[in-house]
Amino acid sequence: MKRPIIALDFGTMKEVKQFLSQFNEPLFVKVGMELYLQNGPDIIREIREMGHDIFLDLKLYDIPNTVGKAMEGLGKLDVQMTNVHAQGGSAMMKRALESFKDGNPDGTLIAVTQLTSMNDSNVKEEQKSNLTLEDSVKHYALLAKHAGLDGVVSSPLESEMIHEYCGDDFLTITPGIRLQEDSKDDQIRVVTPAIANQLGTDYIVVGRSITKAADPVEKYRMVQVMWESGDELA
Ligand code: C5P
Repeated sequence: MKRPIIALDFGTMKEVKQFLSQFNEPLFVKVGMELYLQNGPDIIREIREMGHDIFLDLKLYDIPNTVGKAMEGLGKLDVQMTNVHAQGGSAMMKRALESFKDGNPDGTLIAVTQLTSMNDSNVKEEQKSNLTLEDSVKHYALLAKHAGLDGVVSSPLESEMIHEYCGDDFLTITPGIRLQEDSKDDQIRVVTPAIANQLGTDYIVVGRSITKAADPVEKYRMVQVMWESGDELA
């Protein structure tokens, strides 16, 4: 069965362990900056030893040589997926890819196009770009594809457009997932796991919907069934 990626947005290993101990199956989890920078690479080793797959969401962005060296390190960590900012450019992405896959040939490297906290006015006024946000997302997705990356992080609402533009085998990894009864929290545009499936999203990233649920295991299962089937639960 397809596995939603659970965002482990906790500060400590203790909280992570407490959360993961409720599940007795291998999960796909996302470790972000908050957890990684406060706990270091040991957290990756510990989660791998528990049998879970990891998306290490560090969104690297620097000159090609620096990102390449950092990716050499990440390539040794045995994570299944990690990412860079497409805005770092083709040379940076190619160098990142080469270094990451050198240590981890089966790993997946994806790019962030525009952060979902950006809007049309930020792109125009702050990045001084004449593109709309949507065209800018398309542009950076294509740049990532041409650099050889495996896919991009995007809104589920952009998945169809990205697949149309970059091909069906170019992966879309999408946060912004909520069930109908959930609070949206700080996400602006959200869709259900069933809609994400219908939009052709390749992976969904789900945080608070599962981590803050009264019964996270039951909620995970509901998300998984909706995501797999493309149907809303009755
Ligand atoms: O709790 P929630 O389901 O909103 O968590 C979504 C996760 O995806 C968080 O870890 C958030 O940082 C991450 N994310 C996001 N939007 C992006 C990139 C990452 O929500 N564009």
